[in-house]
Amino acid sequence: MKFFIDTANLDQIKEAQDLGILDGVTTNPSLMAKEGVSGHENIINHYLRICDIVDGDVSAEVISTDFKGIIEEGEYLASLNKQIVVKVPMISEGVKAIKYFNDKNIKTNCTLVFSSGQAIIAAKAGATYLSPFIGRLDDISSDGLNLISEIRDIYDNYDFTTEILAASIRHTMHIIDCAKIGADVVTTPLSAIKGLLNHPLTDSGLKKFLEDHKKSNS
Ligand code: G3P
Repeated sequence: MKFFIDTANLDQIKEAQDLGILDGVTTNPSLMAKEGVSGHENIINHYLRICDIVDGDVSAEVISTDFKGIIEEGEYLASLNKQIVVKVPMISEGVKAIKYFNDKNIKTNCTLVFSSGQAIIAAKAGATYLSPFIGRLDDISSDGLNLISEIRDIYDNYDFTTEILAASIRHTMHIIDCAKIGADVVTTPLSAIKGLLNHPLTDSGLKKFLEDHKKSNS
């Protein structure tokens, strides 16, 4: 299972990278805006800084919604660094663009996915990654994890190579449940990654080991 961090915050990306378990980064226009990154040049430079920090794939989202615009933007983004994956929205013009990029061996991440039907279309178009937003489905009393499970079954039925990248992760249990279902990738906030490694019995056990060592060595 690959671990991506879902942020444009460079400090958080560095912290996750230093942990040694990071496989990539996903960003979106809202995450860039949250970090105060605006203007074409600044946005491009920010992507390049992220690529310098991590070794793996870095999703950079297009803002065009027409085929020609998505192609132009995507080809430019992909030319910046071989780590860049072009993030394309699940709309008809986006599907056409994913097919185009696939034919040109440009990696894509199909984003804003909320149904199994959309997942089938993205896989048929040849998306590298598929991003179902599980937290946003949970937010409206729908079952985000059930969607991951359905897509896993469908992709396995046909040996689709599109990787399921569970997105809009809210907490540690989302990660664990995605792992049980067999999502290929999770993209998560740093807090959820760090939450996985905490356990009170680890802390109390370590404290006792260190105390006992000190007693017997003093
Ligand atoms: O990057 C896309 C996705 O992970 C967004 O998450 O928390 O805005 O629903 P969220």
